[in-house]
Amino acid sequence: MAPPTQFFLFMCFLFGIVLVFGESDNYIVHMDTTVMPNIYSDHHSWYSTMVDSALASSKADGTPFPSNSKLIYSYHHAIQGFSAHLSPGELEAIRNSPGYVSSVRDMPVKLDTTHSFQFLGLTYKSGAWPASNYGRDVIIGLVDTGIWPESSSFNDSGMSEIPARWKGGCHQAGFQFNGSVCNKKLIGARYFNKGIVAKTPKLILKLNSTRDTNGHGTHTSSTAAGNYVKGASFFGYAPGTARGMAPRARIAMYKALWPEGGFESDIIAAIDQAISDGVDVLSISLGTDVKALHLDPVAIATYAAIEKGIFVTTSAGNDGPYGATLHNGTPWVITVAAGDLDRNFGGVITLGNGVQVEGMSIFPGNPLFPRTPMVFMGLCNDTAALSRVRRKIVVCEDNGNMLRHQISYTQTANISCSIFITNGLDIERYLMNPLPAMVLETKAGKVIKDYISGASGKRKPKASVEFKHTVIGGGRPAPRVASYSSRGPSPSCPFVLKPDVLAPGTLILAAWSQNSPTAFLGSKDLYSKYNLVSGTSMSTPHVAGVAALLKAARPKWSPAAIRSAIMTTSYLNDSTGRPIEDLGANHVGTPATPLAMGAGHINPNKALNPGLVYDATMEDYNNLLCGLNYTAKEIQTITRSSSSTTICSNPTLDLNYPSFMALFDFSKTTTREFHRTLTNVGEDSASYRATVTPVKGYNVTVEPKVLVFKKKFQKLSYKLTIKGPTGGGKVEQVAWGYVTWTDFHGKYEVKSPIVATTDRIESLGPTRKAN
Ligand SMILES: *[C@@H]1O[C@H](CO)[C@@H](O)[C@H](O)[C@H]1NC(C)=O
Ligand SMILES: *[C@@H]1O[C@H](CO)[C@@H](O)[C@H](O)[C@H]1NC(C)=O
Ligand SMILES: *[C@@H]1O[C@H](CO)[C@@H](O)[C@H](O)[C@H]1NC(C)=O
Ligand SMILES: *[C@@H]1O[C@H](CO)[C@@H](O)[C@H](O)[C@H]1NC(C)=O
Ligand SMILES: *[C@@H]1O[C@H](CO)[C@@H](O)[C@H](O)[C@H]1NC(C)=O
Ligand SMILES: *[C@@H]1O[C@H](CO)[C@@H](O)[C@H](O)[C@H]1NC(C)=O
Ligand SMILES: *[C@@H]1O[C@H](CO)[C@@H](O)[C@H](O)[C@H]1NC(C)=O
Ligand SMILES: *[C@@H]1O[C@H](CO)[C@@H](O)[C@H](O)[C@H]1NC(C)=O
Repeated sequence: MAPPTQFFLFMCFLFGIVLVFGESDNYIVHMDTTVMPNIYSDHHSWYSTMVDSALASSKADGTPFPSNSKLIYSYHHAIQGFSAHLSPGELEAIRNSPGYVSSVRDMPVKLDTTHSFQFLGLTYKSGAWPASNYGRDVIIGLVDTGIWPESSSFNDSGMSEIPARWKGGCHQAGFQFNGSVCNKKLIGARYFNKGIVAKTPKLILKLNSTRDTNGHGTHTSSTAAGNYVKGASFFGYAPGTARGMAPRARIAMYKALWPEGGFESDIIAAIDQAISDGVDVLSISLGTDVKALHLDPVAIATYAAIEKGIFVTTSAGNDGPYGATLHNGTPWVITVAAGDLDRNFGGVITLGNGVQVEGMSIFPGNPLFPRTPMVFMGLCNDTAALSRVRRKIVVCEDNGNMLRHQISYTQTANISCSIFITNGLDIERYLMNPLPAMVLETKAGKVIKDYISGASGKRKPKASVEFKHTVIGGGRPAPRVASYSSRGPSPSCPFVLKPDVLAPGTLILAAWSQNSPTAFLGSKDLYSKYNLVSGTSMSTPHVAGVAALLKAARPKWSPAAIRSAIMTTSYLNDSTGRPIEDLGANHVGTPATPLAMGAGHINPNKALNPGLVYDATMEDYNNLLCGLNYTAKEIQTITRSSSSTTICSNPTLDLNYPSFMALFDFSKTTTREFHRTLTNVGEDSASYRATVTPVKGYNVTVEPKVLVFKKKFQKLSYKLTIKGPTGGGKVEQVAWGYVTWTDFHGKYEVKSPIVATTDRIESLGPTRKAN
């Protein structure tokens, strides 16, 4: 390791080089197309002429080095404008060109890295599957790492002909990929690499085509809409028939993430193409950590998608359990958090006295440890001592934060079988180890410790260990919010509660690519057709699949109506009837707040019949942008309509959203008012009554308390008022409750979370720095 001074000099050296050659970089440039001179036949020729003349004028300025500036992409739908590789002088020339709105540097983006359908209550008999014909003909586009088309999950058996309205295709050939791999399930495949190539000129992409480079995109697409595949499992774990949430929906893959990196210019191009091809649902399991909406390419491009009626689902991110770590906290998309399933993977430890104990593991091998000597090694932090017992079953006990280290110590010592006892909640990430290992909760661990300390003399402690058991149900509460799932509030718009919903994301079984190992056995790579993976990347396509079912069953609903249906029908209690727990908390049983799980856990069958929905139009989103005090140019960057037509006549922070987020100063009692409009999507005549669960330290009232609908699609409004805090200094940072509209027949419950917080939000405000 280099001492700090050397490191510092090295940094200066690098920086020096950058300065000498001029800081050329990729830029995304937003344009006002209404001022395009008539001489141009299309936007593309306008943009390329502009870039060419910027090149010429900056050379005339005397730029010393030859420039490699060029137009990367012209965008048509996702944004109005283009991306180009520009020197500072060229960027300056572009900024002085007519029609220029704004520009940002092209930044990297980050990937949010069989049973889940049963857990969600989907059945053949009734509910969202039959009602939607399993998502028939709905097209789900995914922006991801590519796809492994040969996977059985993308077999098109049972699929009808491709709808005539589909404008996309699989014509773009590339490395190990051509149109012949597409079918009636996989109907679109494109890749976008011009941005990353412009960033890194000598780059050679290892897998320069839509073929999946690392399995992620194959996993997300098969989770959303994979076909039925019998006998899928991960080395024997989670065995059964694999299928996506919407098994009859179609898939279009837009690859814009490469193992070599991923850049915004390519992501925008992918979304641009998906909009133009005519996808119905867009699933985006990636994000940027840009805070301001007008600088966030995903926020900008998805605004255009929503405008076209495309439902957009995005991942909250994997930076939990800390607050305000969420990305994609964009008011027009659905932002998905991740939870676990009622399923344990592991094995059985049979002690010498015949007592059996269950442990957790997804170890891929099947080693047998028949009646093997067992030893308790406490903290397991002495590798020399561990090496002396390496042929035994070694039992370790965590003191709170040792587990990670214990795993590495036992691996260094090459222990043939390790058992880790821990009271930690966040253990899912420790289940995959290259050597045989199991993780036990304290209670099960005590059985083993007691047995070892009781065994004496000739009856030395022994145990037999078996792997590859899958236990469904098992009595533990499920779902629980995963520790890694990013938490709200949304740094880009704290006035809208985010995330929106919780969906399965932990240890999800779905298809994988055959060029990327799924496990390690000792030092050997193992491959499998299905992989167990965790992340909000995995929960996001679950919601894409559910949205596809709703689109098929309710074709007239807007993206906001579908989002509302998914949110207001979600559930709050786990399989044991208690409030859903937060695995990121310090104590077992801590309930998850709406800042961790949004409105609750998705419930697809109920989402089909929500009774009432909170709808929102593009105008509502524009009024919110005005309320957030974005400038006319910033709003134009997002809405793509020229500044003269963007009039902030009705600025407001009060979006017609299915949840409530109220910010308070802890030292001052104030009143916050929200106005909401409900649309009746149930029976013609229906009456609803509001109930409010108490929000600790606040007084919440609803006016009126009864809404009487006379017609289907009728809209009625109400006002919700939150007064507080009234705790006299002892206010909780995050207080929450729910407002529920229940119809008089008890058929529908339309539930919205209410969060009141005294957390300091100023630090979360948009960072306004554009180029
Ligand atoms: C697709 O599935 C059908 C029915 O299970 C099977 O007959 C066919 O061989 C599969 N096709 C491919 C390419 O695997
Ligand atoms: C297309 O790809 C398939 C499978 O990779 C291959 O068998 C076939 O020869 C390719 N066709 C063309 C025209 O390149
Ligand atoms: C990617 O493939 C295309 C066409 O197949 C080729 O023109 C291009 O040079 C390749 N780019 C990289 C970075 O490998
Ligand atoms: C193991 O941890 C304990 C408690 O922290 C410490 O006292 C001991 O010195 C450690 N042993 C080694 C070998 O590091
Ligand atoms: C670890 O132990 C196994 C047998 O238990 C042996 O085959 C392997 O070579 C050992 N690995 C190392 C790195 O010592
Ligand atoms: C959910 O749990 C809460 C708190 O324990 C309880 O009051 C409520 O009745 C439960 N709701 C359902 C639907 O079980
Ligand atoms: C927007 O500006 C107005 C007027 O300066 C101010 O009162 C309001 O608090 C600002 N809103 C936000 C969200 O910053
Ligand atoms: C809450 O506000 C209502 C209306 O202002 C009032 O009638 C009620 O007493 C208040 N409740 C509490 C607990 O402060």
